[in-house]
Amino acid sequence: MNAPGHHAMLPHPDHDETARQEWVRTFRQHLATRVAPGVAAVYERRVLPRFRAQHQREPADRHEIRREMLQDGYHQFWSALQRRSQELMWDTLADTVEREHDALVSRAKALSADGPGSLELDPDLDIPTYHAAVDIHLQPGGYHSEFAPDDVAAGALYDAALPIYLAGALGPENDLLGRTLAGFLAHHAPEFEPRRMLDMGCAIGNSTLPWCRAWPEAEVHAIDVGAPVLRYAHARAVALGARVHFSQQNAERTRFDDASFDLVVSHIMLHETSRAALPRILAECHRLLRPGGLMLHMEIPRGGTPFEQFMLEWETYNNNERFAGYMTDADLPRLAASAGFDATDCTMERASLGMSTEQKSYGAGDFSFPVLVARKASADAERQRA
Ligand SMILES: C[S@@+](CC[C@H](N)C(=O)[O-])C[C@H]1O[C@@H](n2cnc3c(N)ncnc32)[C@H](O)[C@@H]1O
Repeated sequence: MNAPGHHAMLPHPDHDETARQEWVRTFRQHLATRVAPGVAAVYERRVLPRFRAQHQREPADRHEIRREMLQDGYHQFWSALQRRSQELMWDTLADTVEREHDALVSRAKALSADGPGSLELDPDLDIPTYHAAVDIHLQPGGYHSEFAPDDVAAGALYDAALPIYLAGALGPENDLLGRTLAGFLAHHAPEFEPRRMLDMGCAIGNSTLPWCRAWPEAEVHAIDVGAPVLRYAHARAVALGARVHFSQQNAERTRFDDASFDLVVSHIMLHETSRAALPRILAECHRLLRPGGLMLHMEIPRGGTPFEQFMLEWETYNNNERFAGYMTDADLPRLAASAGFDATDCTMERASLGMSTEQKSYGAGDFSFPVLVARKASADAERQRA
Protein backbone atom coordinates (compact mmCIF):
# COMPACT_ATOMS: atom_id res chain seq x y z
CA MET A 1 0.00 0.00 0.00
CA ASN A 2 1.25 3.50 -0.80
CA ALA A 3 2.14 5.77 2.10
CA PRO A 4 0.03 8.92 2.51
CA GLY A 5 1.35 11.63 0.26
CA HIS A 6 2.76 9.10 -2.16
CA HIS A 7 2.51 10.17 -5.79
CA ALA A 8 3.74 8.83 -9.09
CA MET A 9 6.79 11.12 -9.35
CA LEU A 10 8.48 10.17 -6.07
CA PRO A 11 11.65 8.08 -6.50
CA HIS A 12 11.67 4.59 -4.93
CA PRO A 13 14.73 3.85 -2.82
CA ASP A 14 15.76 0.19 -2.78
CA HIS A 15 16.46 -1.73 0.43
CA ASP A 16 19.99 -0.41 1.05
CA GLU A 17 19.15 3.14 -0.02
CA THR A 18 16.15 3.13 2.32
CA ALA A 19 18.40 2.02 5.17
CA ARG A 20 20.94 4.78 4.47
CA GLN A 21 18.27 7.47 4.07
CA GLU A 22 16.63 6.35 7.30
CA TRP A 23 20.02 6.50 9.00
CA VAL A 24 20.58 10.09 7.83
CA ARG A 25 17.07 11.06 8.98
CA THR A 26 17.61 9.68 12.47
CA PHE A 27 21.17 11.09 12.59
CA ARG A 28 19.74 14.57 11.96
CA GLN A 29 17.02 13.94 14.53
CA HIS A 30 19.69 12.94 17.04
CA LEU A 31 21.66 16.11 16.27
CA ALA A 32 18.57 18.31 16.70
CA THR A 33 17.34 16.75 19.95
CA ARG A 34 20.55 15.57 21.68
CA VAL A 35 23.50 17.53 20.30
CA ALA A 36 22.19 21.00 19.30
CA PRO A 37 20.75 21.71 22.80
CA GLY A 38 24.31 21.27 24.11
CA VAL A 39 25.37 24.28 22.02
CA ALA A 40 22.88 26.43 23.95
CA ALA A 41 24.17 24.91 27.20
CA VAL A 42 27.85 25.69 26.50
CA TYR A 43 26.85 29.21 25.50
CA GLU A 44 24.97 29.79 28.77
CA ARG A 45 27.46 28.04 31.06
CA ARG A 46 30.84 28.64 29.43
CA VAL A 47 30.90 31.24 26.68
CA LEU A 48 28.50 33.88 28.00
CA PRO A 49 30.00 34.05 31.55
CA ARG A 50 33.48 34.44 30.02
CA PHE A 51 32.25 37.19 27.68
CA ARG A 52 30.57 39.04 30.58
CA ALA A 53 33.71 38.79 32.68
CA GLN A 54 35.88 40.14 29.87
CA HIS A 55 33.59 42.92 28.58
CA GLN A 56 31.36 43.79 31.57
CA ARG A 57 28.28 43.66 29.28
CA GLU A 58 26.05 41.34 27.23
CA PRO A 59 26.99 40.43 23.61
CA ALA A 60 25.55 43.12 21.35
CA ASP A 61 24.32 40.86 18.56
CA ARG A 62 24.62 37.47 16.83
CA HIS A 63 27.92 38.47 15.23
CA GLU A 64 29.62 38.91 18.61
CA ILE A 65 28.17 35.61 19.78
CA ARG A 66 29.45 33.92 16.65
CA ARG A 67 33.00 35.23 17.15
CA GLU A 68 33.08 33.65 20.61
CA MET A 69 31.27 30.43 19.72
CA LEU A 70 33.52 29.64 16.76
CA GLN A 71 36.36 29.08 19.26
CA ASP A 72 34.32 26.60 21.30
CA GLY A 73 35.12 22.91 20.81
CA TYR A 74 31.56 21.69 21.42
CA HIS A 75 30.15 24.12 18.87
CA GLN A 76 32.80 23.00 16.36
CA PHE A 77 31.81 19.37 17.03
CA TRP A 78 28.07 20.03 16.45
CA SER A 79 28.70 22.25 13.42
CA ALA A 80 30.90 19.65 11.70
CA LEU A 81 28.31 16.91 12.29
CA GLN A 82 25.46 19.14 11.09
CA ARG A 83 27.34 19.93 7.89
CA ARG A 84 28.17 16.26 7.35
CA SER A 85 24.50 15.29 7.83
CA GLN A 86 23.55 17.66 5.01
CA GLU A 87 26.22 16.22 2.68
CA LEU A 88 25.17 12.66 3.51
CA MET A 89 21.51 13.50 2.86
CA TRP A 90 22.25 14.50 -0.74
CA ASP A 91 24.71 11.61 -1.22
CA THR A 92 22.17 8.98 -0.24
CA LEU A 93 19.28 10.55 -2.18
CA ALA A 94 21.38 11.01 -5.32
CA ASP A 95 21.96 7.24 -5.48
CA THR A 96 18.22 6.62 -5.84
CA VAL A 97 17.55 9.50 -8.22
CA GLU A 98 20.46 8.59 -10.51
CA ARG A 99 19.46 4.92 -10.61
CA GLU A 100 15.84 5.78 -11.42
CA HIS A 101 16.34 8.85 -13.56
CA ASP A 102 15.34 7.38 -16.94
CA ALA A 103 12.09 6.05 -15.46
CA LEU A 104 11.40 9.37 -13.71
CA VAL A 105 11.86 11.28 -16.99
CA SER A 106 9.45 8.90 -18.79
CA ARG A 107 6.86 9.24 -16.03
CA ALA A 108 7.17 13.05 -16.05
CA LYS A 109 6.69 13.20 -19.81
CA ALA A 110 3.65 10.93 -19.74
CA LEU A 111 1.99 12.80 -16.89
CA SER A 112 2.74 16.25 -18.31
CA ALA A 113 1.43 15.33 -21.75
CA ASP A 114 -2.00 14.34 -20.43
CA GLY A 115 -2.47 16.53 -17.42
CA PRO A 116 -4.34 19.70 -16.61
CA GLY A 117 -2.40 22.96 -16.30
CA SER A 118 0.67 23.62 -18.43
CA LEU A 119 4.48 23.74 -18.52
CA GLU A 120 6.45 26.40 -20.38
CA LEU A 121 10.24 26.30 -20.28
CA ASP A 122 12.67 28.96 -21.47
CA PRO A 123 16.03 27.45 -22.45
CA ASP A 124 17.42 30.97 -22.97
CA LEU A 125 16.64 32.19 -19.45
CA ASP A 126 19.74 33.61 -17.75
CA ILE A 127 20.18 31.75 -14.48
CA PRO A 128 20.88 34.41 -11.81
CA THR A 129 24.41 34.34 -10.38
CA TYR A 130 23.03 33.75 -6.89
CA HIS A 131 21.99 30.30 -8.14
CA ALA A 132 24.81 29.57 -10.57
CA ALA A 133 27.69 30.55 -8.24
CA VAL A 134 26.97 28.13 -5.37
CA ASP A 135 24.91 25.01 -4.72
CA ILE A 136 22.30 26.46 -2.36
CA HIS A 137 21.92 24.27 0.77
CA LEU A 138 24.56 22.04 -0.86
CA GLN A 139 22.02 20.50 -3.27
CA PRO A 140 24.23 19.15 -6.08
CA GLY A 141 23.71 21.42 -9.10
CA GLY A 142 21.12 23.55 -7.31
CA TYR A 143 17.60 23.84 -8.73
CA HIS A 144 18.59 24.56 -12.32
CA SER A 145 21.47 22.32 -13.47
CA GLU A 146 20.68 19.75 -16.14
CA PHE A 147 22.74 16.58 -16.42
CA ALA A 148 20.54 14.71 -18.93
CA PRO A 149 17.89 15.55 -21.54
CA ASP A 150 14.53 16.43 -19.94
CA ASP A 151 16.22 16.32 -16.54
CA VAL A 152 13.95 16.09 -13.48
CA ALA A 153 16.66 15.14 -10.95
CA ALA A 154 16.65 18.44 -9.00
CA GLY A 155 12.89 18.11 -8.48
CA ALA A 156 13.07 14.49 -7.33
CA LEU A 157 15.96 15.32 -4.99
CA TYR A 158 14.15 18.28 -3.44
CA ASP A 159 10.90 16.33 -2.92
CA ALA A 160 12.72 13.41 -1.30
CA ALA A 161 15.02 15.65 0.77
CA LEU A 162 12.38 17.83 2.46
CA PRO A 163 11.09 15.07 4.82
CA ILE A 164 14.68 14.31 5.89
CA TYR A 165 15.79 17.95 6.09
CA LEU A 166 12.79 19.00 8.21
CA ALA A 167 12.04 15.64 9.87
CA GLY A 168 8.67 15.35 8.16
CA ALA A 169 7.48 18.75 9.45
CA LEU A 170 5.92 19.75 6.13
CA GLY A 171 3.57 16.74 6.10
CA PRO A 172 3.10 13.88 3.64
CA GLU A 173 2.87 16.19 0.62
CA ASN A 174 5.54 18.65 1.82
CA ASP A 175 2.88 21.33 1.66
CA LEU A 176 2.66 22.81 5.17
CA LEU A 177 4.07 26.20 4.12
CA GLY A 178 1.40 26.61 1.42
CA ARG A 179 -1.35 25.39 3.73
CA THR A 180 -0.20 27.79 6.44
CA LEU A 181 0.05 30.81 4.14
CA ALA A 182 -3.32 30.09 2.47
CA GLY A 183 -4.82 29.75 5.98
CA PHE A 184 -3.11 33.00 6.98
CA LEU A 185 -4.74 34.79 4.03
CA ALA A 186 -8.18 33.35 4.80
CA HIS A 187 -7.80 34.67 8.37
CA HIS A 188 -6.11 37.98 7.48
CA ALA A 189 -8.47 38.96 4.64
CA PRO A 190 -11.56 36.72 4.80
CA GLU A 191 -13.30 38.71 2.07
CA PHE A 192 -10.43 38.23 -0.39
CA GLU A 193 -11.13 35.73 -3.22
CA PRO A 194 -8.12 35.28 -5.50
CA ARG A 195 -9.18 34.68 -9.09
CA ARG A 196 -5.73 34.70 -10.71
CA MET A 197 -2.66 34.15 -8.55
CA LEU A 198 1.08 33.63 -8.91
CA ASP A 199 3.46 31.61 -6.72
CA MET A 200 7.06 32.80 -7.20
CA GLY A 201 9.97 30.39 -6.60
CA CYS A 202 7.65 27.38 -6.63
CA ALA A 203 10.35 24.67 -7.12
CA ILE A 204 8.33 21.40 -7.20
CA GLY A 205 5.01 23.18 -6.54
CA ASN A 206 4.74 21.63 -3.08
CA SER A 207 3.57 24.91 -1.53
CA THR A 208 1.53 25.85 -4.63
CA LEU A 209 -0.95 22.98 -4.50
CA PRO A 210 -2.71 24.02 -1.26
CA TRP A 211 -3.73 27.24 -3.02
CA CYS A 212 -5.49 25.20 -5.73
CA ARG A 213 -7.35 23.33 -3.01
CA ALA A 214 -8.22 26.44 -0.97
CA TRP A 215 -9.54 28.36 -4.01
CA PRO A 216 -10.47 25.73 -6.63
CA GLU A 217 -11.90 28.36 -8.99
CA ALA A 218 -8.67 30.38 -9.09
CA GLU A 219 -6.28 30.26 -12.06
CA VAL A 220 -2.98 29.35 -10.43
CA HIS A 221 0.41 30.20 -12.01
CA ALA A 222 3.79 29.24 -10.59
CA ILE A 223 7.30 30.24 -11.71
CA ASP A 224 10.85 29.21 -10.97
CA VAL A 225 14.25 29.66 -12.62
CA GLY A 226 14.99 25.91 -12.63
CA ALA A 227 13.76 23.77 -15.54
CA PRO A 228 14.34 20.40 -13.78
CA VAL A 229 12.24 21.39 -10.78
CA LEU A 230 9.47 22.73 -13.06
CA ARG A 231 9.27 19.57 -15.20
CA TYR A 232 8.96 17.60 -11.99
CA ALA A 233 6.48 20.13 -10.54
CA HIS A 234 4.06 19.88 -13.44
CA ALA A 235 4.13 16.08 -13.49
CA ARG A 236 3.74 16.01 -9.70
CA ALA A 237 0.77 18.41 -9.80
CA VAL A 238 -0.90 16.25 -12.46
CA ALA A 239 -0.25 13.14 -10.37
CA LEU A 240 -1.86 14.86 -7.40
CA GLY A 241 -4.83 16.11 -9.46
CA ALA A 242 -4.03 19.85 -9.43
CA ARG A 243 -4.24 22.35 -12.28
CA VAL A 244 -1.24 24.73 -12.21
CA HIS A 245 0.39 26.70 -15.03
CA PHE A 246 4.14 26.39 -14.48
CA SER A 247 6.64 28.52 -16.37
CA GLN A 248 10.37 29.12 -16.21
CA GLN A 249 10.79 32.79 -15.40
CA ASN A 250 12.88 35.02 -13.19
CA ALA A 251 10.76 36.69 -10.49
CA GLU A 252 12.87 39.84 -10.95
CA ARG A 253 11.24 40.41 -14.36
CA THR A 254 8.49 38.14 -15.68
CA ARG A 255 6.64 38.00 -18.99
CA PHE A 256 3.20 38.45 -17.39
CA ASP A 257 1.14 41.58 -18.16
CA ASP A 258 0.84 44.56 -15.83
CA ALA A 259 -1.95 44.27 -13.23
CA SER A 260 -2.73 40.70 -14.30
CA PHE A 261 -2.87 39.02 -10.84
CA ASP A 262 -4.88 39.71 -7.74
CA LEU A 263 -2.53 37.70 -5.52
CA VAL A 264 1.26 37.12 -5.66
CA VAL A 265 2.86 34.86 -3.05
CA SER A 266 6.16 33.15 -2.33
CA HIS A 267 7.23 30.56 0.22
CA ILE A 268 10.85 30.75 1.46
CA MET A 269 12.13 32.15 -1.84
CA LEU A 270 13.37 35.65 -0.97
CA HIS A 271 16.27 34.47 1.23
CA GLU A 272 17.62 32.50 -1.75
CA THR A 273 17.97 35.59 -3.95
CA SER A 274 20.31 38.56 -3.51
CA ARG A 275 20.57 42.11 -2.24
CA ALA A 276 20.14 43.43 -5.80
CA ALA A 277 17.36 41.00 -6.75
CA LEU A 278 15.16 41.58 -3.69
CA PRO A 279 14.00 45.15 -4.54
CA ARG A 280 13.50 44.13 -8.17
CA ILE A 281 11.27 41.20 -7.13
CA LEU A 282 9.16 43.45 -4.90
CA ALA A 283 8.80 46.00 -7.71
CA GLU A 284 7.80 43.18 -10.08
CA CYS A 285 5.10 42.07 -7.62
CA HIS A 286 3.79 45.64 -7.56
CA ARG A 287 3.71 45.75 -11.37
CA LEU A 288 1.90 42.40 -11.59
CA LEU A 289 -0.83 43.17 -9.05
CA ARG A 290 -4.12 44.77 -9.96
CA PRO A 291 -5.14 47.70 -7.74
CA GLY A 292 -6.28 46.26 -4.41
CA GLY A 293 -4.29 43.06 -5.04
CA LEU A 294 -2.25 41.39 -2.29
CA MET A 295 1.39 40.32 -2.01
CA LEU A 296 2.42 37.71 0.61
CA HIS A 297 6.02 36.53 1.03
CA MET A 298 6.60 33.88 3.69
CA GLU A 299 10.19 33.75 4.87
CA ILE A 300 12.40 31.55 7.02
CA PRO A 301 12.41 32.19 10.79
CA ARG A 302 14.69 34.96 12.02
CA GLY A 303 14.97 33.95 15.67
CA GLY A 304 13.77 36.02 18.61
CA THR A 305 17.07 36.45 20.51
CA PRO A 306 20.64 37.12 19.30
CA PHE A 307 21.55 33.53 20.28
CA GLU A 308 18.66 32.07 18.24
CA GLN A 309 19.68 34.30 15.35
CA PHE A 310 23.27 33.05 15.66
CA MET A 311 22.06 29.41 15.52
CA LEU A 312 19.82 30.03 12.51
CA GLU A 313 22.63 31.86 10.74
CA TRP A 314 24.59 28.62 10.71
CA GLU A 315 22.87 28.08 7.35
CA THR A 316 24.44 31.23 5.90
CA TYR A 317 28.01 30.22 6.68
CA ASN A 318 27.81 26.45 6.38
CA ASN A 319 24.95 25.52 4.07
CA ASN A 320 25.35 27.99 1.20
CA GLU A 321 22.27 30.00 2.21
CA ARG A 322 24.45 33.03 1.64
CA PHE A 323 21.69 35.64 1.59
CA ALA A 324 19.86 34.38 4.69
CA GLY A 325 21.97 36.48 7.08
CA TYR A 326 21.10 39.70 5.24
CA MET A 327 17.42 38.71 5.41
CA THR A 328 17.63 38.53 9.21
CA ASP A 329 18.07 42.30 9.33
CA ALA A 330 16.27 43.35 6.14
CA ASP A 331 13.41 45.80 6.65
CA LEU A 332 11.04 44.16 4.19
CA PRO A 333 8.09 46.59 4.65
CA ARG A 334 10.45 49.50 3.92
CA LEU A 335 11.78 47.73 0.83
CA ALA A 336 8.20 47.04 -0.31
CA ALA A 337 7.34 50.72 0.14
CA SER A 338 10.38 51.67 -1.96
CA ALA A 339 9.14 49.23 -4.61
CA GLY A 340 5.89 51.14 -5.10
CA PHE A 341 3.55 49.96 -2.34
CA ASP A 342 2.07 52.54 0.01
CA ALA A 343 4.07 52.35 3.27
CA THR A 344 0.85 52.18 5.29
CA ASP A 345 -0.15 49.04 3.35
CA CYS A 346 3.07 47.10 4.15
CA THR A 347 3.43 45.06 7.36
CA MET A 348 5.39 42.16 8.80
CA GLU A 349 3.17 39.45 10.26
CA ARG A 350 3.90 36.01 11.69
CA ALA A 351 2.59 32.57 10.82
CA SER A 352 3.35 29.74 13.22
CA LEU A 353 3.89 26.25 11.86
CA GLY A 354 3.90 24.40 15.17
CA MET A 355 7.13 22.43 14.67
CA SER A 356 8.70 20.10 17.23
CA THR A 357 12.31 20.43 18.43
CA GLU A 358 13.56 17.64 16.16
CA GLN A 359 12.03 19.44 13.19
CA LYS A 360 13.77 22.73 13.97
CA SER A 361 17.39 21.45 13.79
CA TYR A 362 18.79 24.21 15.99
CA GLY A 363 17.02 23.60 19.28
CA ALA A 364 13.97 25.24 20.79
CA GLY A 365 13.08 28.92 20.42
CA ASP A 366 11.03 31.24 18.26
CA PHE A 367 10.26 29.42 15.05
CA SER A 368 7.35 31.39 13.66
CA PHE A 369 7.65 32.24 9.98
CA PRO A 370 7.65 35.95 9.10
CA VAL A 371 5.24 37.02 6.36
CA LEU A 372 5.60 40.28 4.41
CA VAL A 373 2.09 41.51 3.60
CA ALA A 374 1.42 44.39 1.21
CA ARG A 375 -1.70 45.51 -0.61
CA LYS A 376 -1.45 47.50 -3.84
CA ALA A 377 -3.33 50.75 -3.52
CA SER A 378 -6.66 51.19 -5.28
CA ALA A 379 -6.65 52.79 -8.72
CA ASP A 380 -7.85 56.10 -7.21
CA ALA A 381 -5.12 56.13 -4.56
CA GLU A 382 -2.47 55.26 -7.18
CA ARG A 383 -3.66 58.18 -9.34
CA GLN A 384 -3.52 60.57 -6.39
CA ARG A 385 0.02 59.43 -5.56
CA ALA A 386 1.12 59.94 -9.18
C1 LIG B 1 13.78 27.15 -0.90
S1 LIG B 1 13.07 26.94 -2.46
C2 LIG B 1 11.35 27.04 -2.02
C3 LIG B 1 10.50 26.16 -2.89
C4 LIG B 1 9.03 26.12 -2.52
N1 LIG B 1 8.43 27.44 -2.66
C5 LIG B 1 8.78 25.60 -1.13
O1 LIG B 1 7.94 26.18 -0.46
O2 LIG B 1 9.40 24.59 -0.73
C6 LIG B 1 13.32 28.48 -3.29
C7 LIG B 1 12.94 28.41 -4.76
O3 LIG B 1 12.96 29.75 -5.28
C8 LIG B 1 13.48 29.70 -6.59
N2 LIG B 1 13.98 31.03 -6.94
C9 LIG B 1 14.97 31.71 -6.35
N3 LIG B 1 15.19 32.88 -6.97
C10 LIG B 1 14.27 32.96 -7.95
C11 LIG B 1 13.97 33.94 -8.93
N4 LIG B 1 14.67 35.07 -9.03
N5 LIG B 1 12.95 33.70 -9.78
C12 LIG B 1 12.23 32.55 -9.71
N6 LIG B 1 12.49 31.58 -8.80
C13 LIG B 1 13.49 31.78 -7.94
C14 LIG B 1 14.58 28.63 -6.51
O4 LIG B 1 14.94 28.16 -7.79
C15 LIG B 1 13.91 27.60 -5.61
O5 LIG B 1 13.22 26.66 -6.37
